[in-house]
Order: sequence, then C-alpha cells, then structure tokens
Amino acid sequence: MSSGKIAAVILAAGKGVRMNSAIPKVMHPLAGRPMIAHVVAALAPLAPDPLVVVVGPDMDEIATAVPSAHIAVQRDQRGTGDAVKAALPALDRVEGDVLIVFGDSPLIGTETMRQMLEVRHRAPEPTVVVLGFRPDDTQQYGRLIVAPDGGLDAIVEHRDADAEQRKVTLCNSGVMAVDGARLPALLDALRDDNEKGEFYLTDIVGAARADGAPCAYVEAPAEDLMGINSRAELADAEAAMQRRLRTAMLAAGVALVDPQTVYLSHDTEIGRDTVVEPHVIFGPGVRVGERAVIKGFSHIEGTTIADGARVGPYARLRPGTEIGADAHVGNFVEVKNAVLAAGAKANHLSYIGDASVGERSNIGAGTITCNYDGFLKSRTEIGEGVFIGSNTALVAPVSIGDGAIVGAGSTVDRDVEANAMAVARPKIVLRSGSAESFRNRKRAMKEGRQKKPDGKA
Ligand code: UD1
Ligand code: CA
Repeated sequence: MSSGKIAAVILAAGKGVRMNSAIPKVMHPLAGRPMIAHVVAALAPLAPDPLVVVVGPDMDEIATAVPSAHIAVQRDQRGTGDAVKAALPALDRVEGDVLIVFGDSPLIGTETMRQMLEVRHRAPEPTVVVLGFRPDDTQQYGRLIVAPDGGLDAIVEHRDADAEQRKVTLCNSGVMAVDGARLPALLDALRDDNEKGEFYLTDIVGAARADGAPCAYVEAPAEDLMGINSRAELADAEAAMQRRLRTAMLAAGVALVDPQTVYLSHDTEIGRDTVVEPHVIFGPGVRVGERAVIKGFSHIEGTTIADGARVGPYARLRPGTEIGADAHVGNFVEVKNAVLAAGAKANHLSYIGDASVGERSNIGAGTITCNYDGFLKSRTEIGEGVFIGSNTALVAPVSIGDGAIVGAGSTVDRDVEANAMAVARPKIVLRSGSAESFRNRKRAMKEGRQKKPDGKA
C-alpha cells in the first residue's frame, strides 16, 4: 500500500478544438455532470492534497465544477509537460506521490490509480509509473516502450515514432504516478525539440531512465481510459457510462424493463423492486425508494420519490419535488418545487409548482397552480384530504384548508378554510330547445349562400 502524501494534478488546459464548442472541453457533461467532476470523484477516495486543476486562460467556469481544487493557469498551451510545470507552484513542497491525470479521460477508476501508487512503492520503487492500455485504434496515442526486464524505457508519441515503434499496441493513457521529490527536476529537463514543438510530459520517462532511475507501467482496460476529443467520442463515453450505471442498478435489485432506454445520472439512487419502464430519463439529484413504479417516458430531476409511489407515464418532475409514499403522479403532470404528501394524487394534465399537497388529497385533471405573476413566484398550500375539482386554477399565494372541496372549473384567488366548499364558476344559462332552433337558423343561412345568382341550387 502506498504511504504518505498524495497530490493530484488534473490537466485541463487544452483547447479541445475538435469539440467545436465555446465551452471548455472538460465542462461537457457526462451522466449529468461535467466530465472533470468524474475525474475528481475518482480521485476523491485517495484524498489528494492538494488537488490542482490546470486550466487555460478564460476557463474560469471550470473552477465552479471543482470547488475543492486549486486552480492553476497555464498561459500558453505548450504541451502536457508545460501544463504540469504550471501546477508546480500550487504543489508547494512537492513530496510524496504526484498523480497526474487528464481532465478529458473521465472513465478512469479509483482502483486503477490505487494500483499505480502501490507499484510506485514496490521495489525497485519506480520513479514514474505510467498507466497503459491497448486501444483498438492506436493512431492518436503515445507508445510505451517496454524494456526486456519488464520495466518502462520510454514513451514515444505516435507522430515521433518510427515504423517499429508504431507496431507497439501498448499505449499511454496519460495517467502517471510520479515521485514528487524528483518531479521538478524531470520537468526542468524537458525540451520541445519534437514534431509538435511541445514540452511532452511523456519525456520524463526517458529522462528518468537516463538518470538510471527505474520506471514501470500498469495496464487497465481500454474502456476506462477512453480520451474524449470530439463530440462523437463524448457520445461513446456517455454510452459506456450509461452501461455501467444500468448494470449497477440491475445488480442493486432495480427492475429496468428495457435498460438501454433508461438514462441515469451519476448520482441516481433507486431502491429495490422499483420498476422503471422504458424511456425514462433521470437527471441529476434523483432518489427513488423501494417498490415504486416509474412508468414510461417520464423525465425526472432533482426529485425524491418515496416507497410505493407511482409516477407517469409522461410525468415531468423538476427540481425540488418530493413525492410521498404511495402517492400518484399521472400522465402529463408537471411538478416543480412542490411536495405531494403520502397518498396524494395528481393523475392527469396538471402543473403543480411551488406548492404543498397534504396527505390523501386529490388534484383533479387540468389543475394549475398559478405560481407566477410575471414578477414573483408564490406558494400554494393544500391541506390533507382536500379535493380539487378538475380544471381548477389556484392563484397563488393561496391556501386550501384540510378537508376542503373545490368545485371543478374554479378560479381560486383567496384562501379556502378547512372543510369549506368553494365553487367559483359563472352561472350556467339553460334555454330549452335553443340548440335546435340555432341549428335550423344556421342551416337556412348556409343554404341561402350556396344558391347560384339565377336562383337555382
Ligand atoms: C497525450 C499524450 C499521449 C497519450 C494521450 C492519451 C503527451 C505528449 N501525449 O496526447 O502519449 O497517449 O494523451 O490520451 O502527453 N493539456 C494541457 N496543456 C497543454 C496540452 C494539453 O493542459 O498545453 C491537457 C489537455 O487539456 C488534456 C491533456 O492535457 O486534458 C492531454 O492533452 P492532449 O493534447 O489531448 O494530448 P494528446 O495529444 O491526446
Ligand atoms: Ca487527448
């Protein structure tokens, strides 16, 4: 096991030109959070201190995604070695191990990095441990040149490699564990006399070997080390991430009827024996209890759903929603920043926003909480055992007391006390036979118009 301090450096200053985007590459989301947040999460169990993220100029927004990190700015993108140099001041006294990872490789696993640290401290204590992998297409990667004794001799970039070296299938993932005490001197020795005219971090391996210091490598599955350079690769990584999340859900006892059609976020929590029908999307911040049913085509984010609740089909649950035990939210119901207590029901075609609905209350079809007057948002409070008739407009701020009944089609713009009945609808006008005389009149008019000028039909 590794001992002592671990510092981590995440490189994220690259422009990411191939993403064709105004957003820094590492801010593009995967499973509901920026890709760099996945890298930080993988590092977290190793408790790196400090954690330094190297960004380019004008990438201030990256700091918001990694609040625990020190931000170091690399002025000009002069290569991965130059990027690590930019992190050195933030590493203050460099001691212990320095883990260097790429912000654009978000599928990296904690255990892989732990294994690298372990190898770093195993005799002969290699100065640099590099994480290798064997991608299907080696074109864009550096090659690991392995010595006959199994140690690592050098890393050669594809564009600098000769024909023999290009045949090597073992590639550099970019992840390294380096002896912190030697890192500054190794970086100092870097030169930019290569094809790209950049300071390659990869050259620290050759430099260490030239000093007689051993280096080593660890190998991990290619999928974990997929680097994201384009939108197509981002989509591939999302697919890989979704596969992992779905597999974990199934293993945790969640019934995903058609797993490939369910989209999960990195933090989605679902309890045992909950059924998730096809085509459900979970945005960030969703927790679902046990034995709930989430019917098809529902879109859910920032929501807590208790045991036994039934949601959808076609429900939209937005942030701040809490659905109580055995509550029902039916088709085409939108809920935002609202609590539906246990056993409450809103089964059809409603908007419930900035509201609370008490236990066992029933919200009729087409009910709308009118929470916004163009300037301010206001709340609607509905008590327990309330019956709201269909097509009711609840003009917030408004409260409906326990046990009250609101008649269908009402526009309620003042509070209704407990157990009261409120009906606010225009009086109906009934005229016997009027429909028939109306039809006769209209029919005669229509015939009159269709007559030709000569009077013939
Ligand atoms: C790099 C490696 C290559 C490896 C591949 C794995 C070097 C020289 N090459 O190549 O061996 O197989 O990754 O994906 O290291 N970055 C900066 N500042 C810079 C340049 C890059 O912060 O000046 C960051 C980028 O944001 C990115 C990472 O470093 O997160 C890798 O940079 P990139 O240009 O994608 O390197 P590759 O050419 O892919
Ligand atoms: Ca890359």
